[in-house]
Amino acid sequence: MSLDIVVGTQWGDEGKGRVVDVLAANVDYVARFNGGDNAGHTVTVGEKTFKLHLIPSGIIQPHTIALIGNGLVINPEILVQEMNMLKESNVEVNPERLKISFAAHLITPGHLALDKAKETLRGGKKIGTTLRGIGPAYNMKASRNGLRMESMLDPVKFHHQITDHIHEINRQLTKLYEMDPLDAESIADQYTKYARILAPYISDPSQILSEAIRNGKNVLAEGAQGTLLDLDHGTYPYVTSSHPTAAGALIGLGLSTSFVDRIIGVTKAFQTRVGEGPFPTEVFGNIAERLRGTGVNPWDEFGTTTGRPRRVGWLDGVLLRYTSRINGLSELTVTKLDILSGIPVIKICVAYQMNNKSFPDLPLGPADLSPFTPIYEKMEGWEENITGARHWKDLPLQARNYILRIEEICGVPVKFISVGPERSQIITID
Ligand code: GDP
Ligand code: IMO
Ligand code: MG
Repeated sequence: MSLDIVVGTQWGDEGKGRVVDVLAANVDYVARFNGGDNAGHTVTVGEKTFKLHLIPSGIIQPHTIALIGNGLVINPEILVQEMNMLKESNVEVNPERLKISFAAHLITPGHLALDKAKETLRGGKKIGTTLRGIGPAYNMKASRNGLRMESMLDPVKFHHQITDHIHEINRQLTKLYEMDPLDAESIADQYTKYARILAPYISDPSQILSEAIRNGKNVLAEGAQGTLLDLDHGTYPYVTSSHPTAAGALIGLGLSTSFVDRIIGVTKAFQTRVGEGPFPTEVFGNIAERLRGTGVNPWDEFGTTTGRPRRVGWLDGVLLRYTSRINGLSELTVTKLDILSGIPVIKICVAYQMNNKSFPDLPLGPADLSPFTPIYEKMEGWEENITGARHWKDLPLQARNYILRIEEICGVPVKFISVGPERSQIITID
């Protein structure tokens, strides 16, 4: 019996979906525990690529049962679209295979409008959110006037609740933000249609998973976003509004700490970020273009959800050591190592510097990184294309040295190395 947790160790888009797809081959249940459709998780199997925003990536493995935990905020329009997309791709989606927590919160067009209004008002201090209504939905959850999935079980009452909710948001939109009001009646009609589709899927993941684990089943929890976007432990205020960390998995699924076995951190071989906020190892110019790609390859660094070009930089060992600690990682998966092929000198940040003093660790967490400049170590790169490597010994010496140095810096063993987006392009280290 076990609960394994997959978390992002950077600012999201580490390749969690790709890793979960591989790990899901050996589990019975896969469960998302935080965030909403701000997430975009890519899984490539053969010629087919899936982009998932709400449903756990592990659903692509046909034997699994997929669950959406109480920690999520769900836009039902996106969820229904995603269910249809999967069905069209011959992935089985039915209430036996997909279970949605009664306690997950709903995202409405009201939250989307508020997200946009707040970002516009922030002007030069905007967060650069995905504009998916995430912050406003979690805000209402914390204020105890949110709408939960369970309200969909009574469509007549639900229609009234949605109407009242939109009226409440309209007061803010018109009085505070000088925006046009939304049409409460038509939104309530539409949401009542979603309620009828989704009601059969509503259940209690906490109960299902706890019982499954006690009965010897294996559960994989799939985090969205990354530790540096955590509401408490990330680069506040340039964060999301949920807890993408290992502890967030237990809250977001209603599971006991005693179940946890492996905590698997996913890191890219370099650093990326989409949206605003500090990024000490960010690079620009030719090397940035080399790391980002130009958009010709599907894996180039352009947001899965928003299409925005991602900011790129060298791997930040200080932040990786920090996120390893916050999550208590038992192992690390390094993705996109193949992208570094052909770069003659690879830099890795091993400490920060401030006033001629070196800091291997963050004195006060990552919120204010502006006083620090990175101290880099230079490592010899490799020329070889490594996308066909399937064993540790297939990697050039320089690539192996790079991985060993990452292990040393964060004190966590690397168990998987991804050398391409496709399911088979992975090296398992025994
Ligand atoms: P997630 O949000 O953490 O699931 O990551 P995304 O799916 O948003 O972004 C990761 C991108 O990198 C996707 O396009 C993946 O297909 C791609 N990818 C994942 N692992 C690798 C890898 O090892 N090499 C390459 N070239 N692409 C990868
Ligand atoms: P996955 O699961 C990368 C970022 C946004 C913004 C900040 C707040 O694919 O790794 P929000 O819409 O959540 O209020 O935006 O968080 N962000 C992500 N960046 N990957 C994600 O998800 C993200 N989800 C949110 O760009 O900077
Ligand atoms: Mg993503």
